[in-house]
Amino acid sequence: MKGIILSGGHGTRLHPLTKVTSKQLLPIYDRPMIMYPLQTLLRAGIKDILVIIAPDHAGDYLKLLGSGKEFGAKITYEIQDKPEGLAQAFIIGADFIDRDSVCMVLGDNIFEDDFSGNIRNFKSGGHIFAKEVKDPERFGVVKFNGEMQVEKIVEKPKEFLSNYAVTGLYVYDNRVVSAAKEIKPSWRNELEITDINNWYLEKGELKVDIVKGEWIDAGTFESLFQAGELARRKSGENMPAVG
Ligand code: DAU
Repeated sequence: MKGIILSGGHGTRLHPLTKVTSKQLLPIYDRPMIMYPLQTLLRAGIKDILVIIAPDHAGDYLKLLGSGKEFGAKITYEIQDKPEGLAQAFIIGADFIDRDSVCMVLGDNIFEDDFSGNIRNFKSGGHIFAKEVKDPERFGVVKFNGEMQVEKIVEKPKEFLSNYAVTGLYVYDNRVVSAAKEIKPSWRNELEITDINNWYLEKGELKVDIVKGEWIDAGTFESLFQAGELARRKSGENMPAVG
């Protein structure tokens, strides 16, 4: 299983903080944001990791994470020239993924859970993780049918569908590379991860599990602040220092 941390984008929602650095390098309590998703992959036993970054501040990522040796991992880097969607990561990372399965985590997602069991037991298809939230309209949302089976994943629905948001950790088999090449850009001109999830769902091969511990998408001022509080509370507990 290979790992990808997607850490590009402009971070415009966090201006002026992100005028001088990348969003995923902002401090969350005692370390830069990206070290939390890195820790999520390492804890899951994933050691071969591709970090996808925007051209700006690329050198700072290298300075922070280097070869990965310090973390017992091998870290490589690719540039995403423009933020053309989460699913583009699988096209940029095609050579890196090679013939393996892949677990992608977003560089601004902070998880308390340990996913090592899920990764160990993964065989094929797609496996995503949902969490009940108060503001589902901010996320990809799981739509259930009458029997509580997953019917569809909808990106930022305008109408209420459910409170279950799709979190930023995705596990796919090798077909994700061809799926990413197959899907078309959305109205916002992005290759949507939601389309990848529906691609697997339509084949009856998407598994949706629930995230048990806390989860924060640190992409707004409010959630950034909450992430700092969570990290402070958990420091030395479930979120041990990286390295
Ligand atoms: O956090 C979970 C949510 O992440 C999911 O529920 C949604 O389905 C998914 O689309 C995504 O929604 P966001 O609105 O949070 O996506 P955003 O555009 O903010 O991008 C998420 C992260 O990925 C962010 O840290 C920037 C990075 N990114 C984004 C894009 C579009 C890239 O590195 N490259 C990109 O092309």
